[in-house]
Amino acid sequence: MTTATAVPDRLDTKALRAEFPALQQLVHGRPLVYLDNAASSQTPRPVIDALLEYYEKDRSNVHRGVHELSQRATDKYESARLRVQQFLNAAEPEEVVWTRGATESINLVAASWGRTHLGAGDDVIISAMEHHSNIVPWQILCQEKGANLRVIPMNVAGELLVSEYDSLLSPRTKIVAVTQVSNALGTVNPVQEIAAKAHAVGAVCLVDGAQAAPHMPVDVQALGCDFFALSGHKMCGPTGIGALYARRALLEEMPPYQSGGDMISSVSFEKTVYNDLPYRFEAGTPMIAAAIGMGAAVDYLNRVGMDQIAAYEAELLAYGADKLGAIQGLRPIGTAKDKAGVLSFEVEGIHPADLGTILDRQGIALRVGHHCAEPVMQFYGVSATTRASIAFYNDREDFDALADAIETAKEIFA
Ligand code: ALA
Repeated sequence: MTTATAVPDRLDTKALRAEFPALQQLVHGRPLVYLDNAASSQTPRPVIDALLEYYEKDRSNVHRGVHELSQRATDKYESARLRVQQFLNAAEPEEVVWTRGATESINLVAASWGRTHLGAGDDVIISAMEHHSNIVPWQILCQEKGANLRVIPMNVAGELLVSEYDSLLSPRTKIVAVTQVSNALGTVNPVQEIAAKAHAVGAVCLVDGAQAAPHMPVDVQALGCDFFALSGHKMCGPTGIGALYARRALLEEMPPYQSGGDMISSVSFEKTVYNDLPYRFEAGTPMIAAAIGMGAAVDYLNRVGMDQIAAYEAELLAYGADKLGAIQGLRPIGTAKDKAGVLSFEVEGIHPADLGTILDRQGIALRVGHHCAEPVMQFYGVSATTRASIAFYNDREDFDALADAIETAKEIFA
């Protein structure tokens, strides 16, 4: 592992930034400072080019045509799946199902695996820092089945209480679904340990990796999880595309999530035989361009280097935490020892919605609100926070600009 101080020299953020057209613009007359990457990252030129090439040359459907364009589109679509497989270190491409994003991936597992494996009195365990997309599908499932939703609590720093998790686990536990990185707090959770403990009681483990995959190398086999959900648009890919990794043995016995074309191998009015993996879970014409774009995004991230990204961002996040921490009246929300990507905070006397608007006028884009994690807000007794979230193309000057802009906001509200 390289040292944190050595790494920034190896990541030429100025050169990287030049590859992102949207980052070149002025907003309200100021150079854009983009710190809303947890909501959606920006798109580098190679990803835009891959999308253009599909629309300009290869535009056609996949798995259906014998003609040249369809062959090319199919090859690129499936090659993108291979890139995601390798990016996640999944054992085989059949374990990667294209979805619209992490939300759909989790819904797929809840609707398919959950409906067939959960019964009355069973337990689903989630954590106190889940995004709504990893709460509501389980709530709906538990209501339908008469099962119980259990929640691993956290401490005030925003760290899960693993000993409490131990006491929630039992033979009734059927699935443990946790985020690897909290979108509201930035906490990195010990998902490898959480998965191992789930397995020890015979449960399976789903990891919501939407906020982890853009920031650190992911190895689903090393994590030991059964399901892993991710979103393309948070990792330099297009919107409307994501993936579900699922262990083949689980996918093999899961019923279809949606039905229609492409997920079948034969249909008559008497009987339908489903297609092989992973197509059984990809009904209808898929998000072809977006999948190809996601393949290009994975190539791009690999080119920058996920180890380099993780080390660089750790250093940058520490710098940002110090810089913001020095502002009088600013309260950080989420101070876990192990964090990635996110700095959330509130500023005394300024509502986050007002702060967000003032920052926007100074060219700074970040998110204010509950971040689709209302239970986290309830835990901290706030209705909203201000959240700065980074990518590898951010740098120290972005945090300097943010700190200056917060001081300006404080003067306006003084
Ligand atoms: N889940 C995204 C966020 O955290 C939208 O902002």
